[in-house]
Amino acid sequence: MPVLPRSDTQLVRRLLWEARAYLPGLGGVLLLELLSTPLALLAPVPMKLAVDSVIHGRPLPQPLRSWLGGVASNPAELLLWVCGLSLLFALASQLQSLFSSLLTVHTSQRLLLDFRSRLFRHAEDLSLSYHTRKGTTDTLYRIQTDATSLEWVFVDGAIPLLRSSFALVTTLYVVLRLNVKIGCTALAIVPVLFLLTRATRPLLRSQSRELKRQESATLGIIQEVLGVLRVVKAFGQEERERRRFTAAGESCVQRRLRLTLADGTLGLLINFIAALGLTAVLYFGVNDVLAGVLTIGEMLLISSYVSQLYAPLKTLSRKTVSLQAQLAGAERAFALLDEPSEVPEPAVPKPLERARGAVEFQGVCFSYDGKRAVLEDVSFHVPPGARVGIVGRTGAGKTTLTFLMTRFGDPAQGAVLLDGVDLREYSIPDLRRQFAVVFQEPVLFATTIAENIAYARPEAEMEEIVAAAQAANIHDFIVGLPDGYATRVGERGASLSGGERQRIGLARAFLRDAPILILDEPTSSVDVRTEALIMEAVERLMEGRTTFIIAHRLNTLDACDLVLRVENGRVRCGGAATMDEITAGIGEGDLAPAASSKGSAL
Ligand SMILES: Nc1ncnc2c1ncn2[C@@H]1O[C@H](COP(=O)(O)OP(=O)(O)OP(=O)(O)O)[C@@H](O)[C@H]1O
Ligand SMILES: [Mg+2]
Repeated sequence: MPVLPRSDTQLVRRLLWEARAYLPGLGGVLLLELLSTPLALLAPVPMKLAVDSVIHGRPLPQPLRSWLGGVASNPAELLLWVCGLSLLFALASQLQSLFSSLLTVHTSQRLLLDFRSRLFRHAEDLSLSYHTRKGTTDTLYRIQTDATSLEWVFVDGAIPLLRSSFALVTTLYVVLRLNVKIGCTALAIVPVLFLLTRATRPLLRSQSRELKRQESATLGIIQEVLGVLRVVKAFGQEERERRRFTAAGESCVQRRLRLTLADGTLGLLINFIAALGLTAVLYFGVNDVLAGVLTIGEMLLISSYVSQLYAPLKTLSRKTVSLQAQLAGAERAFALLDEPSEVPEPAVPKPLERARGAVEFQGVCFSYDGKRAVLEDVSFHVPPGARVGIVGRTGAGKTTLTFLMTRFGDPAQGAVLLDGVDLREYSIPDLRRQFAVVFQEPVLFATTIAENIAYARPEAEMEEIVAAAQAANIHDFIVGLPDGYATRVGERGASLSGGERQRIGLARAFLRDAPILILDEPTSSVDVRTEALIMEAVERLMEGRTTFIIAHRLNTLDACDLVLRVENGRVRCGGAATMDEITAGIGEGDLAPAASSKGSAL
């Protein structure tokens, strides 16, 4: 997925669109944040009153003089009043900050969760080949880390930026009202800061983008190694994998250091420029006090305002910088969301309640990568209720055939039809409901055995789950476990043997009452006796359903009405009577009689 650099305006528009449902909440946060400016402007006023009016006995400023009347003439009373005012302002400011953070967390976390859920749902919709190509970790990083950029841009970016701009304008107005010369001096640093941040923006954005790519790749190593730990251990490659991880991590550290250096240098410059401005204000301020143009209280007030003025200026400069890093994250998250699904839903799907089960391939060509053809001009027709064996050398494309029937991918040419209708005309959930699939490599979830079986039909009763397990010849094994059906099977079913996983996969298919059954080597990991028992159950299950069985053993195919022979990307269709010919054509290794299988040794 290319992360295309977009213009800031385009990105901002997109960000607003994605967060549209939360804009009222964010608006509330902004209003509360804006309140902080008048509160901050009021904070140094009691100090000014204390110095000028209480200590030096100067008259109070006009509106206060008429409000306070008698109090103004008594310094002790005035001091108490000034102290009360100071406490009141402090309390108001704390309350503002409390409500603001509550509303911020409430809004931003919901915004983030909602955005992440949409990304997750979209990742689920993307085709298997997309995930094979990109790797799951990159998607994980985009959902988990990059998605936070959306929240950041609003809560830590836009709101502080708007608040700072408001604070800047208001404070500037107040400072200019108090003293034009000092106000203009303070303002002189603004263009310098503006030019500085503008110049560094592109560099920071591209560095952040690169850092994110490398962090995601480093995470990928952990995920890959932990996923195939058995192999790593068996070949004693732990140290090599650690070195690979450390090397990738090291380049992340280098990048982050470079980014921190750039960011830190910028921070240093910003603060230094602000300090220059503040020093100039101090210089002119003290001169004015000495010349009698300003009172000490006024000078303290102006200095306090000027440092308040610099706070938003610094925020504005720093935030525009961090914003670049976050925009790089937002770009990556949006790129995932914009990734088109390779198996698109039809605009107006054909209704499909329960299929009869007629499957037809019409001149189907398919390739995973667009270069090497896996299937070429495949055509066959399977009537409803037929039992179809699929045979062929390993890697011939048998699993790929079933992959196309369930629309995990679409043919490059030709069409796959169910009940005479192109699969692309049905809605994907409707279509998938027609299939019960036992995968070649059974995949279980890290939950209980019962829940794993019920994955096919979550509303199934316990009796139905048990019946399915009995049919798959796994019930006795399950009840022999200390926790029975409540036994947790570990990640991907790691605590079970291959044959046990396969039979749980079968039970799952048994439970799903679907008109088409696909069994991809359903008994490859079990012994001959168990296989015979399972095949008996499969026989029963096949009644009235179209069934595809991929098998390498002859006896599994005995019950088939039709055999599809896959060879060099082409499919030859034959009846059960042609089995001898198929056996001869494929060779013993590929289509071995049961006597030569693993079970025969027992
Ligand atoms: N996700 C994928 N991306 C790219 N190529 C793939 C992918 N899956 C399978 N292939 C290739 O497509 C070809 C057919 O694979 P397929 O899994 O259909 O074979 P199969 O007949 O089921 O083999 P087996 O008997 O070993 O299960 C193989 O050459 C394989 O390398
Ligand atoms: Mg296969």
